[in-house]
Amino acid sequence: MQQRVAVVTGAGSGIGRALAWRLAGHGFALAVSDVDEAGLKETVARLEPYGPVLAEHLDVRERAAVQAHAQAVEECFGRVDLVVNNAGVALHASVLEQEHEDVRWILDVDFWGVVHGTEAFLPRLLAAGGGHLVNVSSVFGLVGVPKQSAYNAAKFAVRGYTEALQGELALARAPVTAHCVHPGGVRTEIARRARVGVSEDAERTAAVFDRIARTSPDAAARAILRGVRRGRPRILVGTDAHVIDALQRLLGPRAPAVVAAALGRYDTRW
Ligand SMILES: NC(=O)c1ccc[n+]([C@@H]2O[C@H](COP(=O)([O-])OP(=O)(O)OC[C@H]3O[C@@H](n4cnc5c(N)ncnc54)[C@H](O)[C@@H]3O)[C@@H](O)[C@H]2O)c1
Repeated sequence: MQQRVAVVTGAGSGIGRALAWRLAGHGFALAVSDVDEAGLKETVARLEPYGPVLAEHLDVRERAAVQAHAQAVEECFGRVDLVVNNAGVALHASVLEQEHEDVRWILDVDFWGVVHGTEAFLPRLLAAGGGHLVNVSSVFGLVGVPKQSAYNAAKFAVRGYTEALQGELALARAPVTAHCVHPGGVRTEIARRARVGVSEDAERTAAVFDRIARTSPDAAARAILRGVRRGRPRILVGTDAHVIDALQRLLGPRAPAVVAAALGRYDTRW
């Protein structure tokens, strides 16, 4: 029997690394990529005892590079079964204060990275006659949050794009499933690597994130893979994600004001 193959972008840290490790444990061969060479190397060291690994430096903003990566995966393994468009970055800044370039950066990585990954791999999954496409959004793809407008825009876009695709795959009775993942706070490096507005204190923002983020990367990876196994179109990760999802359903357009008030009470400088 041929070994199943999984592709994970942004696998040099956090949720991507944990996913790759879990998948290797489940017997998948892995294609991992990242812009962070050192982080990727560490991930590869953890994966190698399990089986074959293809590791490539990949910037998901570069469409041609993502296409070339898909080609390399095909040449290396001859198949692909599961693709996780996970690579992401964050920005903590108000609408008035954030740099225009930073807004573009967020959209380029967090939204266009997902589009590039989908365009490169979905036709291969379909041609193979089955598989799973997993696009990582956020709870910030469910509700708007102060100082997250660019991230919100990118993550709402990932959700819209993926939900539309889910409809298309259902109408076509395609053998491929698409999943949109909405993690709550997961204890990773994302906040420490984030860009912030000039009047924000980066250290403090990261410390607040560390207090809020309750889910471990490994628990997040397990929740994501469970959701894929169960065929869930929307995969919520962490208790906080379930609470925010419920709030959004209950309050509709009033949810952002309630979330803003809760954050303001939690941290007066938010
Ligand atoms: N940690 C959380 O609380 C949380 C919550 C909701 C959603 N998410 C999402 O989960 C995903 C993974 O984030 P994480 O928390 O593991 O963060 P992380 O910073 O630990 O890992 C993200 C990885 O993506 C890589 N990356 C950044 N820009 C890239 C690019 N242009 N091309 C390729 N790789 C790039 C980074 O080098 C890093 O290794 C992201 O999409 C993030 O938005 C995280």
